[in-house]
Amino acid sequence: MRRALKPARVRVRVPATTSNLGAGFDVLGMALTLYNELEVSVRPGVPGCVVVVEGEGKGSLPADETNEVARVLGLSSSRQVEIRQNNGIPVARGLGSSAAARLGAVLALRALEPGRKDDDWVLSRALSLEGHPDNVVPALLGGARLGLQDGGRVVNVPLRAPRDLAAVVCIPAFELSTEKARRILPRRVPRADAVFTSARVGLLVYAFERRQYQLLKTAMQDVLHQPYRRRLVPGMSEAIDAAYAAGAFGAALSGAGPSVFALAPKRSGASVGRAMEKAFHRRRVASRALTLGIDTRGATVTRLS
Ligand code: HSE
Repeated sequence: MRRALKPARVRVRVPATTSNLGAGFDVLGMALTLYNELEVSVRPGVPGCVVVVEGEGKGSLPADETNEVARVLGLSSSRQVEIRQNNGIPVARGLGSSAAARLGAVLALRALEPGRKDDDWVLSRALSLEGHPDNVVPALLGGARLGLQDGGRVVNVPLRAPRDLAAVVCIPAFELSTEKARRILPRRVPRADAVFTSARVGLLVYAFERRQYQLLKTAMQDVLHQPYRRRLVPGMSEAIDAAYAAGAFGAALSGAGPSVFALAPKRSGASVGRAMEKAFHRRRVASRALTLGIDTRGATVTRLS
């Protein structure tokens, strides 16, 4: 679709997200201090649609009008638009990189298209592209969030984010597509699994709210997705166990994987990360751990000209 875009230059920064947090499959998510930056310039001097990808995804993400950002902006090769991506979020690792790319593009579109649109427009637009409120909602708004769709409406609830903890992610060197990681899940779940899950989501909300972090080990147990995804992520269970042995309060697969996420006392963040790396290594999986914080600002948009 050809769109009317205002001549302008905008910079959008979108945080990585870890979703599910164990039992909160498809509903809970949290923004992390790791970012994708996107600059979009609409100006007559640009020779067609120029896309430059730096950082994560350089060489693998398309650098032409088939790039996801260009597609969301509705660009063809003849449009005089330059898109520069500087990606800090590893691709297809369960850290919300595709939600960040799509949300970033929708935010750029809102800044460049004539007319006023509110955050609800951004959310429903990004969700129609992405379909996962557990990544899109915290990526837009920051913090820890519960997000769901009720009919056409997106309901999002801020949780008290455990900002006093380290958010440790251990990122295996291989990619896993969300589609593949969802295909292996059963379509129906036994009632006992539903009860197990709703109890733990409630417990997690309470644990965050009251800073009762010793409850997280129980609250982050999951039966809906992790037991099935284990076979796609060699080392997952061992990395979760290693995180607990090194002092983490809670640990789980990050989103659809393959990264593993842990919440730990700040002083233990680095040792929890190393323990997870070693656990993956024992299963012959290379990985790297990052000790991050929780982003509470969400996505930001800066008009540069
Ligand atoms: N909650 C999704 C899943 C991840 O576990 O498949 C993408 O948000």
